[in-house]
Amino acid sequence: MSSSSVFKLWTNARLATLAGDPKENPWGWVEHGAMLSQGEHLLWAGDIADLDPEFRSGLAQEHDLGGAVVTPGLIDCHTHLVYGGQRAAEFEQRLLGASYEDIARAGGGIRSSVAATRAASEHQLYAQAAHRALNLLKEGVTTLEVKSGYGLSLASEAKMLRAARRLKGLGVDVRTSYLGAHALPPEFEGRQDAYVTALIEWMTPLHREGLIDAVDAFCEGIGFSPEQTRRIFEAAQGLGLPVKLHAEQLSDQGGSQLAAEFKALSCDHLEHLSEAGVQAMAASGSVAVLLPGAYYFLRESKLPPVQALRDAGVPIAISTDHNPGTSPTLSLLLMLNMACTLFRLTPEEALRGVTVNAARALGLSDRGQLTAGQRADFCVWDVEHPNELAYYFGRNPLKRVVRGGVERA
Ligand code: NIG
Ligand code: FE
Repeated sequence: MSSSSVFKLWTNARLATLAGDPKENPWGWVEHGAMLSQGEHLLWAGDIADLDPEFRSGLAQEHDLGGAVVTPGLIDCHTHLVYGGQRAAEFEQRLLGASYEDIARAGGGIRSSVAATRAASEHQLYAQAAHRALNLLKEGVTTLEVKSGYGLSLASEAKMLRAARRLKGLGVDVRTSYLGAHALPPEFEGRQDAYVTALIEWMTPLHREGLIDAVDAFCEGIGFSPEQTRRIFEAAQGLGLPVKLHAEQLSDQGGSQLAAEFKALSCDHLEHLSEAGVQAMAASGSVAVLLPGAYYFLRESKLPPVQALRDAGVPIAISTDHNPGTSPTLSLLLMLNMACTLFRLTPEEALRGVTVNAARALGLSDRGQLTAGQRADFCVWDVEHPNELAYYFGRNPLKRVVRGGVERA
């Protein structure tokens, strides 16, 4: 192998590195930027004038990015991408007046997706999820989290998690979260604590098979209680697995304080988060993952406490929450726009929310910024300024994606 194929020099880039203090240098901006990659990682990123001249004299294979805006690869840190069927009929029911909770209590909602997911083979689940994932990839997603939670038996949860992991073959990094505590399966009707015991037992074989990166739960009136969530988190801790939580989405259950006790990677949704919850998250370093798609699709009116999160220094991430019930979106760029219009994030906060802070919500410190040592995952955009990524809705300005130093077709 010649030395020129080892190093790649990416020149003529206007970099939104997202590194450093945003107050000093918004977007971590480098106007005359370049990056040097070796294998899957960046060796260097910065102003071309500061590059070691050796790398300009043929040592590295040069790639001209044409003066385009470049950001880190996008990270969708909260999805339920693997499931059978869809729930458009439920959407219609809600338009006629039924609430999400009414439908769930009547045995629809998550449970109807459970029936369809159980009936599907691993390959069918994979094929449907791959189709969905390609939509996300088209907008520059290079890392994707996928949750289980529509199987609710050991075999079906394993089937979902295996299907999710197979998505890596599409050219995206996949992290999987075990969400056995998503809903009560019909065979456990009236025996919720027994179900919690069962889902805790399943954690060990799923973990042994290498299918779990984090353990999640739905702590809610129509989901699992804080006491049950604690049992699940204790089991995760026993296996050395990090936790995250669907918390305070429809009501304030104090889930975020509980999650903070377990140093949760993230608490997600958070429309009903209290000031005590904000403080607990700040103290534990958990990321607040805001999900404007679910807020919009459920026509919620209670906003997450964005200013309080900012004031407390809690990192904010943004995600699609793609799922068939509350957020059937397949556009992370649309979520950037909605995070700004609905939650009043700035475009820079929104971009940090799908890069550096989304990485943190997954416990990943090797991506989300364009700096030495990070993965060479980046997007090249047909925009003049990165604030346009949140400005347009329904336009995809992606030109090129590089993942692990290799251009994705
Ligand atoms: O993130 N909140 C619970 N889980 C999903 C909804 C799942 C469903 O309705 O199928 C969510 O919003
Ligand atoms: Fe969710």
